[in-house]
Amino acid sequence: VETDSTKRIAIFGASGMLGKSLVSLCEERKIPHIRGAFSHPDERTYAKVDIRNIDSIEFFIETWKPDVLLNSSAYTKVDDAEKEYGSAIEINGTGVRNLAYVAKAHGLYLVHVSTDYVFGGLNHLSRPLTPFQENESCSPVGMYGYSKYLGEEFIRAIYPEKSLIVRTSWLHGKGGKNFIDTIARLAKEKETLSVVNDQTGSLTWTPWLSEVLLSLIEKGTTGVLHATAQDEGSWYDVAKYIVEKTGANCHIAPQSTEASGRPAPRPSYSKLGIDALATILGEAPPLWRKFIDLHLADTEPYPG
Ligand SMILES: NC(=O)c1ccc[n+]([C@@H]2O[C@H](COP(=O)([O-])OP(=O)(O)OC[C@H]3O[C@@H](n4cnc5c(N)ncnc54)[C@H](OP(=O)(O)O)[C@@H]3O)[C@@H](O)[C@H]2O)c1
Repeated sequence: VETDSTKRIAIFGASGMLGKSLVSLCEERKIPHIRGAFSHPDERTYAKVDIRNIDSIEFFIETWKPDVLLNSSAYTKVDDAEKEYGSAIEINGTGVRNLAYVAKAHGLYLVHVSTDYVFGGLNHLSRPLTPFQENESCSPVGMYGYSKYLGEEFIRAIYPEKSLIVRTSWLHGKGGKNFIDTIARLAKEKETLSVVNDQTGSLTWTPWLSEVLLSLIEKGTTGVLHATAQDEGSWYDVAKYIVEKTGANCHIAPQSTEASGRPAPRPSYSKLGIDALATILGEAPPLWRKFIDLHLADTEPYPG
């Protein structure tokens, strides 16, 4: 995909896992981009911006004059969000509202990354286990899910005409702490690992998602879209495949979510339907096992 080289993309959350992969792809494609981060100390690489503060976003935009706001920033600590829900809502809700206001005021294209945690809540408990479609009504899970849902609602209410919400799930990439590397490492150290087998969803490799996001930006797509692997599996299935691929001598034992004792609830089923994306891209997304193969083979040096 060749992105119009005159379009300047401001990446909010450039220091995060997805952000690093986006930066890396923009560099490779020579796409003009600005790296926005909040607490990252390297001010030569990252332009400081706090999305909770509208003046901070305005200053950032007046300084860097982007055409596109690509929001990959978020409060992502799912378990901590149960207690620190004020922070989660301030960043994922109010912060996203601020981005929508500023984007609208300047007529900028806003592309926002959301999550499968907007599905699988109370209203979905008796729903058949088929992939969630873009237009299906949400029922978020946990405070993280609610905060992300709030952000989506602000965008839909404030700036539907020139915005795109891309929901994704189970991100993994070399630029951040992720399940694939964690299991690959632990499987080398331990004889047995317990992994939950009652959460079904789908992996998303960040370099693939970055390509998809740039391609959608190029097309100027608006509305809501889902972007994740084609097929579904559980974390247990994922862990088993990692062990198989890495040849580690480790037994993966199935565990229930309840027994895992995590503070935040998680969707038991949150596969996102990808048919709309496949139509737009002209091809279906890869299978999740392919994403793991690509991840394990990835030696890309990501920016610090
Ligand atoms: N990880 C997943 O499995 C997953 C699944 C589905 C959807 N998502 C969504 O995908 C996106 C990317 O996730 P990720 O895992 O790459 O996130 P991440 O690694 O946790 O990175 C979060 C980024 O947000 C920035 N940030 C935090 N507070 C900010 C603020 N007040 N103002 C501006 N920037 C702020 C951070 O900057 P500093 O580090 O500089 O503070 C960091 O660059 C998020 O929208 C997330 O909700 C993630």
